[in-house]
Amino acid sequence: MKNILNAPFVEEMRKTTANMYRLGWDERNGGNISCLLDEEEVYQYLDKNEVIRSIPMGFDAASLVGKVFIVTGTGKYFKNVDEDPETNLGIVRIGEDGKTAELLWGFSDGGKFTSEFPAHLMSHMARLSVDPENRVVLHCHPTYTLAMNYVHELDEKKFTHTLWEMCTECIVVFPDGVGVLPWMLCGTNTIGEATAEKMKEFRLVVWGMHGIYGAGKTMDETFGLIETVEKAAQIYMLTAHLPRINTIKDEEMVELAEYFGVKYRKDFLNL
Ligand code: 13P
Ligand code: ZN
Repeated sequence: MKNILNAPFVEEMRKTTANMYRLGWDERNGGNISCLLDEEEVYQYLDKNEVIRSIPMGFDAASLVGKVFIVTGTGKYFKNVDEDPETNLGIVRIGEDGKTAELLWGFSDGGKFTSEFPAHLMSHMARLSVDPENRVVLHCHPTYTLAMNYVHELDEKKFTHTLWEMCTECIVVFPDGVGVLPWMLCGTNTIGEATAEKMKEFRLVVWGMHGIYGAGKTMDETFGLIETVEKAAQIYMLTAHLPRINTIKDEEMVELAEYFGVKYRKDFLNL
C-alpha cells in the first residue's frame, strides 16, 4: 500500500486550500472543496474494506453509490489543511444506501465532511449529468465577488454581463455565464437543491451575500473559473463609483466568443 500523504490528490487539496487562504477567499472555516477520485487510484493507497466509520448524510445521493470523494471537514480552517491534512480532510465513499458516507481516511479528530456536503454532492450529480468528466466542486467567499453582491443587482443576466465587461477574457473563460441565487440559509438540502438546479446550466453559481460555487473537470479549471470572476469583480469594485468612459461592447464580446470558438449565452448580451 502506498503512503496516502504522498497521493497527488491529497497534495492537490493541500496546495489549493493554501492558495485560496492566501488569496483571502477562505477566512476562518469559510469555503469547502470536494473532488471525485478515481477508485482504482484511491485503492492503491487505502484498503477498500477498511471503513473507519459510517456518517449519515441526510440526503439521497443514489447516483453516486460507490463513488469516492476527498472533501474538506466542517469547521476546519483552510489555513491549517497543509500542515495537518489528516485532521482537516477526509476521504469518503458513498454507501450502498446512497445516504451514508463511509469514511476511509481522515477527519482523524472525529470530525466530518463540510456542512455544505448536500450542495457539493447534488452539484456533482447535476454536473455529471451534463458533463461526465466533471470532478471538482469548490465553494469559497472571494472578497470582491462578495462586495459586488451588495451593490449590483442579483440578476444572472445583468451580473454575468457586468463581469464580461470587466476583463476581455471573461466571456471566453465562462461563456456559459454565472447563475445567481438569492440569499438563502446555507448548509441545508434546500440550498443544495437550488444550487444543483443552477449547475445543470452553469459551472459558476453565486450564493447571494455569501460566496460562490464553481465546478469543473480539474482543480485548475475550477479554481481558474472563480479566479477570473473574482478578478472581474475586483475591477468592477475599483471602478463602479467612477465615471465610466470606456467599456467592452457587446459586439466585441461576440467577436471574442466567435474567434475563440466558445458557446456563449447569447441571451445574456443586449444585441
Ligand atoms: P464548513 O466549515 O461546514 O465547510 O462551512 C463553511 C462554509 O463556507 C459554509 O458555507
Ligand atoms: Zn460558505
